[in-house]
Amino acid sequence: MSADVDRIFDTLAEHRAREAGATLPGLFAADPERFNRFSLRLDDLLLDYSKTSLTETTRALLLDLARAAGVEAKRDAMLSGVPINLTEKRAVLHTALRRRAGEVVLVDGQDVMPEVAGVLAAMGVFAEGVRAGTVTGEGGERFTDVVNIGIGGSDLGPAMATLALAPYHDGPRLHFVSNVDGAHLYDTLKSLDPKTTLFIVASKTFTTQETMANARSARAWLAGALGEKAVGSHFAAVSTALDKVAAFGIASDRIFGFWDWVGGRYSIWSAVGLPLMIAIGTEAFRSFLDGATDLDAHFATAPLEENLPVLLALTGIWHRDICGYATRAVIPYDQHLARLPAYLQQLDMESNGKRVTREGKPVSHDTGPVVWGEPGTNGQHAFFQLIHQGTSPVPVEFLIAARGHEPGLERHHAMLMANCLAQSEALMRGRTLEEARDQLLAKGVGAEEADRLAPHRVFPGSRPSVSIAYGILDPYALGRIIALYEHRVFVEGAIWDINSFDQWGVELGKELADTLLPAVESGVAPPSLSGSSAGLLAHLTAQAVA
Ligand code: F6P
Repeated sequence: MSADVDRIFDTLAEHRAREAGATLPGLFAADPERFNRFSLRLDDLLLDYSKTSLTETTRALLLDLARAAGVEAKRDAMLSGVPINLTEKRAVLHTALRRRAGEVVLVDGQDVMPEVAGVLAAMGVFAEGVRAGTVTGEGGERFTDVVNIGIGGSDLGPAMATLALAPYHDGPRLHFVSNVDGAHLYDTLKSLDPKTTLFIVASKTFTTQETMANARSARAWLAGALGEKAVGSHFAAVSTALDKVAAFGIASDRIFGFWDWVGGRYSIWSAVGLPLMIAIGTEAFRSFLDGATDLDAHFATAPLEENLPVLLALTGIWHRDICGYATRAVIPYDQHLARLPAYLQQLDMESNGKRVTREGKPVSHDTGPVVWGEPGTNGQHAFFQLIHQGTSPVPVEFLIAARGHEPGLERHHAMLMANCLAQSEALMRGRTLEEARDQLLAKGVGAEEADRLAPHRVFPGSRPSVSIAYGILDPYALGRIIALYEHRVFVEGAIWDINSFDQWGVELGKELADTLLPAVESGVAPPSLSGSSAGLLAHLTAQAVA
């Protein structure tokens, strides 16, 4: 991290200390134009960050920080195929997957777009064939159910997006099996008919323990019912490791490839999106890609101060590094986005949960926050108590559509919207001791009792939130929202000067799981195992036979 960046971080901390007395209601009272000054629009997509403690000075300093960190140059390097993933020596080009036909994107001097278009076309033929019933099972029966077997990026993207676009889902039923816990596969298969079930095995590496175990067991289930020769017609695969897929026995015309320059958590735009394409069709899938590519164009060209992902990232940096908030909550007031928080957990925490810079030196500022959330209004009746009155402020990111899809239930949408607005308003406004006491007195509570109860009813207020609003959650809007978050993660990583595109932190646990499997199966702990793990293994081994 450059000295300039460190200096601006210090200036921001001093600025925060100077502004410590400011309140959010005070900022709004002082500036009737605050909403207009602290929100950005890209037609129907609105980012409102006026309910944060950012002032004109804060924003100017944060923009200086982004410039000093070289965000623009780093962005341009990513978008033009420079191998910015230094530890894996790879380009980072998920954005190429959503570019429109005819555009050129070079990797090592080669235009990758013809191959991208080729896979997309092959996916389209297969997906439309499944949807129309021309691609069938071994017995010629139409597929009624598609089971995606994958984990992490090979699961969360299509699972999140399929739920998000449920109103556009007119293809066969979709199921997602990820966990190595046999319950996940067993519970999914028990209601399915092998004759009408298609499996898609999705794994970038085609080595992931969970996915391979589930794929082998699914294959045994199918072959047990229909015979080994049925496997070819009931399995398809998505991977970069085409040789490994072929060795698993999946026919080459059922294999949809992608490339090492697509990170797992950025792969929904690739063949990993095949289940989504089967669910919503090729046209809607293209619209999903179009939303993302249009957001990419905005990210690439809008000045930093008008750039939605940049401003979303700068609020993140402000909250994480200057205000010291360790977590951020993502609360979609949109039931169809129920899996978005889980999707963003991988996107954000696997990308920016890093402790060394791109050069391998310890970072000088805190990096990725804990990302968590649940849809509203459910969260209000669970953890919002802490967000309103707990001792650690949690910046909240609200997502809300102007319109729902549900005919006859328009009033539900009005209630949803009212709740969403009410939460950010309450967080911002708070309630003083006097107001709490007066409210109790107005309800006829006696003075002594009002004094006793009032402290419990105080809300500190000035709790920050950002709102992201859009017209309706259609494929185009979803594409834009995901790309917005992808680039936000990128900008934050660029400011921290970390590599947001590797994930070495998942390796140690994977290695140990591989070495521990024989110990679990034999019940004999290796001498290297800690006392705790050996004790747990002994207990579980004893209980397993009970
Ligand atoms: O373990 C982490 C991870 O490598 C993720 O980055 C990835 O999305 C997931 O596992 C699944 O990997 P694959 O697609 O290779 O099976």
